[in-house]
Amino acid sequence: VEVSVLIPAAGEGQRLGLGPKAFLKVGGKTLLEWTLSAFQEAAEVLVALPPGVEPPRGLRAVFLEGGPTRQASVARLLQAASLPLVLVHDVARPFVSRALVERVLSATRAQGAAVPVLPLPDTLIRPEGEAYGEVVPREALRQVQTPQGFFTALLREAHAYAEKRALSATDDAQLVRALGYPVALVEGERAAFKITYPEDLLLAEALARVWSA
Ligand code: C5P
Repeated sequence: VEVSVLIPAAGEGQRLGLGPKAFLKVGGKTLLEWTLSAFQEAAEVLVALPPGVEPPRGLRAVFLEGGPTRQASVARLLQAASLPLVLVHDVARPFVSRALVERVLSATRAQGAAVPVLPLPDTLIRPEGEAYGEVVPREALRQVQTPQGFFTALLREAHAYAEKRALSATDDAQLVRALGYPVALVEGERAAFKITYPEDLLLAEALARVWSA
């Protein structure tokens, strides 16, 4: 298909403390290998690695050097993208189903920008100092996942706009929105959670045993 998959994998994985997540193994495969297998059908896959890290051999992807932030890494990947649609996906989310990729892609084709979201199961508050504070109605909130899909030209424009205004963002959809364009929502998947904390690895090991995208 006509999609460049952009994988920012240039983080140092500091919260986990086990080095760059791309090379972390679960179920005998690295997170990068799991992630690439979700995008086997993509015409182009570009991966940003931390500076100085030797690209792994034998994987079907083009490797380049990431930047100091996720946003900078995506900006570099975007420069190298050659196809009209992009999917931006964090390497820290190795379990992506084909169904999820298809949902994001079809909404992207129709609407120019689309992201997967999920409702939140917990009660949510704004703490008042150290004390329990105002409850934020959880029905009103969603957590945002990747892959996030965009017309390549639109995401390029959004990154250029962010650079000019010195906006910094934790995902790409917020830059598109800042530019003034709507971003469609599709249903996310629990399995596409972001491996962030040590316990997450236990869940990832368990999923690796049963996973086939
Ligand atoms: O740190 P955070 O969890 O937000 O990172 C999300 C993704 O962005 C990870 O896949 C990480 O490797 C990537 N990243 C990057 N370049 C950076 C920092 C993070 O590609 N400088």
